[in-house]
Amino acid sequence: MEIHHIGYLVKDISAAIEKFLQLGYHIHEDTITDNTRGIDVCFLANGGYIVELVSPTGAQSPMAPMLKKIGNSPYHICYKTTDIEADAALLRKQGFVPTQPIAPGGQTDRPVRVAFFFNRHIGLIELFEG
Ligand code: NI
Repeated sequence: MEIHHIGYLVKDISAAIEKFLQLGYHIHEDTITDNTRGIDVCFLANGGYIVELVSPTGAQSPMAPMLKKIGNSPYHICYKTTDIEADAALLRKQGFVPTQPIAPGGQTDRPVRVAFFFNRHIGLIELFEG
């Protein structure tokens, strides 16, 4: 599957953006706050690569424990799909365990859907249909 973006967990999203800009990235999609997931999200781009910065909005965020555990770090690779139901079913057969069911996602004007899976050998991956 083709890679859509790399998810990157950070504690301070403004400071992280400043550092990525110094490394030659540009803003791909401005920072938004996703209150249902308790995170701030910003997409940056550099060449053909897109990095999604994810930052917990507080100690109550579902992402706060992972940040505490792994620190500022990449934590998922997201893959593009044109049929998220079919690829989700295939991943389940291949030993990927769903951690977040298929749900609306992203921050573009057009509808997109995402789902997350965990595999004990490679960790967290995301599917992106849009
Ligand atoms: Ni992602």
